[in-house]
Amino acid sequence: MDELVILKLLQKGAEATISLASWYEKKVIIKSRKIKKYRHPQLDERIRRFRTIHEPQLIYEAKKAGVPTPTIFLVDTKNMLIIMEFIQGKQVKHLLTILSTTERSQLCFKIGVLVGKLHFYGVIHGDLTTSNMLLDDYGKLFFIDFGLGEKQNELEVRGVDLHLMKRGFQSTHNKFAKDSFKDIMSGYSNVMGKPFTTNILKKIREIERRGRYVEERKLK
Ligand SMILES: Nc1ncnc2c1ncn2[C@@H]1O[C@H](COP(=O)(O)OP(=O)(O)OP(=O)(O)O)[C@@H](O)[C@H]1O
Ligand SMILES: [Mg+2]
Repeated sequence: MDELVILKLLQKGAEATISLASWYEKKVIIKSRKIKKYRHPQLDERIRRFRTIHEPQLIYEAKKAGVPTPTIFLVDTKNMLIIMEFIQGKQVKHLLTILSTTERSQLCFKIGVLVGKLHFYGVIHGDLTTSNMLLDDYGKLFFIDFGLGEKQNELEVRGVDLHLMKRGFQSTHNKFAKDSFKDIMSGYSNVMGKPFTTNILKKIREIERRGRYVEERKLK
C-alpha cells in the first residue's frame, strides 16, 4: 500500500490504534487492531478479524438507519485494519463544555434523534460516549466507534445502551448531565414516539435500581 502515508498517531487505545493518514491524496483515518501477545495466537487472530469486519458492518447498518457515520474505504483482514473517511470536526466531549446552554440543548436533542434512529432500525451502539460523537465543520453530527455494537431490538439492550450513555454524561459532564439527558430523551422520543420512550425510561430506572442493589450488596 505505497499510496498510504501515515501523518499522525491520534490515539493508542487498549484495543485499537487510530492514525491520520494520507491515501491517494485524501485524508483518511486508519483504525488498526494490533497483536495482543498475551492471547493465544489463533484466538488473537480470530478476535482481531471479527472486530475488523464487525465494526464496518455496523457502521454500514447505522448509515442505512439514517445516522451519519464515516464512509468505509477499505477493510483489510490481512493487516487487520480499516481505512475510513476522516471527519474534520470536533469531539462532542469538548464541544459540550464550550457551547451556550441553548446550543448545548440543541446538540443534545440531535444526539437523541440519532440514538433514536439507531434503535428504531435495531442497531445498538454499545459505547455512546461523547468522544464517539463528532460534529463536523458544517454542523453535521456523526457517530463513530461501533466496535462494541450489535443488531438488537430488545428493550433491555436498548435500555442498557441509554443507561451507559447517561452514566457517561454523569461522569464526564456532571454539571449539566441531568438537563442534557432530558434533551437527549426528547430527541429520542421524536423518533421512537412517546409511549415507547416512557417504557424505556422505566426500563432505565429499573437498570439503575439493579445497579444500586449490586453496589449495596458489595458494601455489606
Ligand atoms: N473517522 C474519523 N474521523 C475523525 N476522527 C476520528 C475518526 N475515527 C476516530 N477518530 C478520532 O479518534 C478517536 C478514537 O477513535 P475510536 O473511538 O474509533 O477508537 P477506540 O480505540 O475504539 O477508542 P476508545 O477505546 O477510546 O473508545 C475518536 O474519539 C476521534 O477523536
Ligand atoms: Mg472511542
